[in-house]
Amino acid sequence: MEIHIFDDNAQLDTFAAQYFIDTVTRKPDAVLGLATGSTPIGIYGKLIKLSKEQNVSFRDVTTFNLDEYVGLTKDDEQSYAYYMNHHLFSHIDIPQQMTHLPNGRSADLEADCKAYDRMLEEQRIDVQLLGLGHNGHIGFNEPAPELSGGTHVVNLEEATREANARFFSSLDEVPKQAVTMGVGSILKARAIMLVVRGADKAAIVKRALTGPITTECPASLLQTHPRVIVLLDREAGRMMN
Ligand code: F6R
Repeated sequence: MEIHIFDDNAQLDTFAAQYFIDTVTRKPDAVLGLATGSTPIGIYGKLIKLSKEQNVSFRDVTTFNLDEYVGLTKDDEQSYAYYMNHHLFSHIDIPQQMTHLPNGRSADLEADCKAYDRMLEEQRIDVQLLGLGHNGHIGFNEPAPELSGGTHVVNLEEATREANARFFSSLDEVPKQAVTMGVGSILKARAIMLVVRGADKAAIVKRALTGPITTECPASLLQTHPRVIVLLDREAGRMMN
């Protein structure tokens, strides 16, 4: 596991964005695994800027997002589909049909999860971007005695709904379920980039990266992966020395 701790978030964003640019430069038809939430916003902004400056095209790139809320339409401003268009896809030359998110509005969520997994089997992710939940979740794989390997519907923990309520006008509006890639699918990525910011996540960073490997802290399973790059700001990394 390669751990980088940055003095400021702009440096972290540049490092992460340049890693994605280098991946696409080396492999123009790269498969990128993407995340939402507040953590990647600066990275996507920098990725847009650097790709223009360095003349890097995403026209042959495929993307898979980790998760989507159940019940929100793609046009809903709180949906992850909307988030991805707003923060990244509409600013780069990636064809819309190359971008994939789980469909939280599917009439048959189970069938849709299986179809998502089939696509992930066919197109292995080159680099998967991850944020980290306060409870150690990755994607929306919440701590539990057992975890699912593949894409599945998950009931969101109250703490997760509360943490995400800041993006909605009230807690009641936060969906109670989401569709998420499973930990098995995440661990199949060739490389994983875990990004964590803020003092409020310092303890879970330490637990995930140095504590026991347990499904009660899903991010701890990353310790089993051969190629994980961890990017922390100074606050998130303050318990790592
Ligand atoms: C988002 C996702 C979640 C977030 C995590 C951290 O697609 O899968 O696991 O990465 O909840 O969220 P933020 O970045 O908002 O602190």
